Amino acid sequence: MSDAVLKLSNVESAYGPIKAIRGVSLQVMPGQIATVLGSNGAGKTTILKTISGIIDPRKGTVEFDGKDITAHDPATIVRRGLSHVPEGREVFPLLSVRDNLIMGAYTRGDRDGVGRDLEAVYGYFPILRERSDQPAGLLSGGQQQMLAISRALMAAPKLMLLDEPSLGLSPRLTKEIFEIVVRINRERGTTLLVVEQNAHMALDMADYGYVLENGRIVLEDTCARLREKDDVREFYLGIHGAGVRGERRCPAMTTLWKTNAMQPRSDVVVPGDTLPQLFRNAVRLRGDAVFMRQKEFGVWRGWSRNDTERAVREVSMGLASLGFAPGDCASILSNTVVEWVLADLGVMCAGGVSNGIYPTDAAAQVHYLCEDSVTTVLFVENDEQLDKALEVRTSLPNLKHIVVFDMEGLARFHDPMVMSLDALRELGRAHDAAHPGLFDERCNCRQPDDLAILIYTSGTTGRPKGAMHSHRGLVYTIRGYNQIVAQDERDERMCFLPLCHVAPAPS
Ligand SMILES: Nc1ncnc2c1ncn2[C@@H]1O[C@H](COP(=O)(O)OP(=O)(O)OP(=O)(O)O)[C@@H](O)[C@H]1O
Ligand SMILES: [Mg+2]
Repeated sequence: MSDAVLKLSNVESAYGPIKAIRGVSLQVMPGQIATVLGSNGAGKTTILKTISGIIDPRKGTVEFDGKDITAHDPATIVRRGLSHVPEGREVFPLLSVRDNLIMGAYTRGDRDGVGRDLEAVYGYFPILRERSDQPAGLLSGGQQQMLAISRALMAAPKLMLLDEPSLGLSPRLTKEIFEIVVRINRERGTTLLVVEQNAHMALDMADYGYVLENGRIVLEDTCARLREKDDVREFYLGIHGAGVRGERRCPAMTTLWKTNAMQPRSDVVVPGDTLPQLFRNAVRLRGDAVFMRQKEFGVWRGWSRNDTERAVREVSMGLASLGFAPGDCASILSNTVVEWVLADLGVMCAGGVSNGIYPTDAAAQVHYLCEDSVTTVLFVENDEQLDKALEVRTSLPNLKHIVVFDMEGLARFHDPMVMSLDALRELGRAHDAAHPGLFDERCNCRQPDDLAILIYTSGTTGRPKGAMHSHRGLVYTIRGYNQIVAQDERDERMCFLPLCHVAPAPS
């Protein structure tokens, strides 16, 4: 095994007092795709940073291509033939796509070879050729990932480190990118070490895998064998079998809930494979029942499902009239109010993806979240939230419209980009009348595996990451609630978390 391209022996790295990885040993063989699986904070990124010299390990050694590179400086390591595609891509936003690619080849002197490799990456990712003169900052998230991988390839590396290539990408795009990564490995012989949270994709793509928990490697094997292990199936692939380890790990929860004593109530279950279908079937079955309550001027006002659907339909058709297309993303920057739900369902019934933003976020965070999610329409609660949107909109080229729920104090405010929710609903009524059948079409255009909502992490150890929830996942969770907590139509739920938090989302 001494002919490994990369060999880590007993490596330990820390951030001040925090030990991020503890005694990690792993190797990657020539021509292999190896993967490190692990949940948030397990230490995946730290392993890659230690290999590429961005952080120096406290203990242990890193050997690359038969030589010790422990704590060498990153530029020297790149020159030796090791490229790192960092988490979150980090392309140079103001440079053109082509210049980003050329930057990747800065260590090389062979101009002909660079020209050939440029053609090769354009062959793998033709969109980069089409966009070669545009600033990289204008590319979508997926295209930026393609660019980051291509830029690393331009160094003609022997070994490429990829940090969560699936981050923020739709399942379809992730699959496409992973397929190309496999082609690069097979056709160019580039050895790869990929760290991923998306265990399904990583185990399908890689030959050999390591499982990292709390900074330690706890399992390693060929990916084919890892896929069959109960622990991996349960914790990384979400396939529930015997559940031995799950019960051992949370005895308190299992006795507290005594889930087997509660019988699921099949009569409260509504059919549907996507959220729009589920919502509309609930309207059909229980249209008159109160769906939401909100206090207005001291009086609780009830919204039935029928009332809600009427408003949602108008929002959704209003969005369609603005050119909002299936798969587009809209963000909602607001406290928990009825309009939040109308916007969220309106976006999904227009075939779009909805992204909640914490109302306490500062303008710079709003900017990052809108940019990263490629938001085209931003819903804001009131003038206070509108101020943040106005502060950052000029550097959000994809943002086309801002819709305000509460126009109090904004009567004299006019801006071509800004409209009230009422105005959007009015547009929706007219669009609906002029396009019969469109609402049904939009409600049915998303498949269960399509992206439904984004929920960004708090970003305490880096920039926030958009967790991608498919319709299938959310519908599964909603049905799961019914399995563990018996409920009926008389139950009322209090929403005490912001709606952009993951917990209330399926409620
Ligand atoms: N700059 C930093 N300062 C202090 N602690 C850090 C820093 N970066 C990471 N950590 C801590 O080190 C540990 C490992 O973090 P790392 O970023 O390597 O995890 P990860 O597996 O890549 O997680 P993720 O899936 O969220 O990207 C975590 O406990 C994290 O909080
Ligand atoms: Mg990471």
